[in-house]
Amino acid sequence: MPQKPYVIDEMISAKAIAARVEGLAKDIRAEFADTDKLVVVGLLRGSFVFIADLVRELDLPVEVDFLEASSYGDGMESSREVRILKDLRGKIEGRDVLVVEDIVDTGHTLSHVSDYLSTRHPGRLRTIALLDKPARREVDFKADWTGFEIPDEFVVGYGIDYAQRNRNLPFIGKVRFVDDPA
Ligand code: PRP
Repeated sequence: MPQKPYVIDEMISAKAIAARVEGLAKDIRAEFADTDKLVVVGLLRGSFVFIADLVRELDLPVEVDFLEASSYGDGMESSREVRILKDLRGKIEGRDVLVVEDIVDTGHTLSHVSDYLSTRHPGRLRTIALLDKPARREVDFKADWTGFEIPDEFVVGYGIDYAQRNRNLPFIGKVRFVDDPA
């Protein structure tokens, strides 16, 4: 499908993200200070930048694992069905787990993944999302920690894509569609 032309306006700077990640890491260190080895689970693909920055600020013994769940196609519409495309490599029974997400939108993904992982009887199961868009929520779910609450704008960057582009932007930007040139 051809993309409509768009520009990206910066919404949250790389500097603001770094400062917030540092603050979140401090809270997580406090929560898991007594944990032997925390399992940090990144939800692919969107969380790959956030988890990389977050674990480097944690200063705790961590094991990093990934799970891929998908609720979007290549466009902007959210479908309700959450599919697990790739499961964890390691076991989490009895282990403390932190699930790392880039954005909570309708809430289906993180809510489904939390339920899914709970069935494996982890120790503490906590969730963190860099961004939260409460205006879009369809299920009653809130991450234990949120970096930034944002309005209902279409965002990209810092791991988040539009049709598999723009994940590598170092900031969070707002997509603004422009008219086709005459
Ligand atoms: C996006 C995003 C979250 C999820 C949030 O993932 O990364 O995981 O949607 O939406 P929700 O709260 O409405 O469920 P996506 O399925 O696009 O995959 P990606 O992480 O590979 O980009």
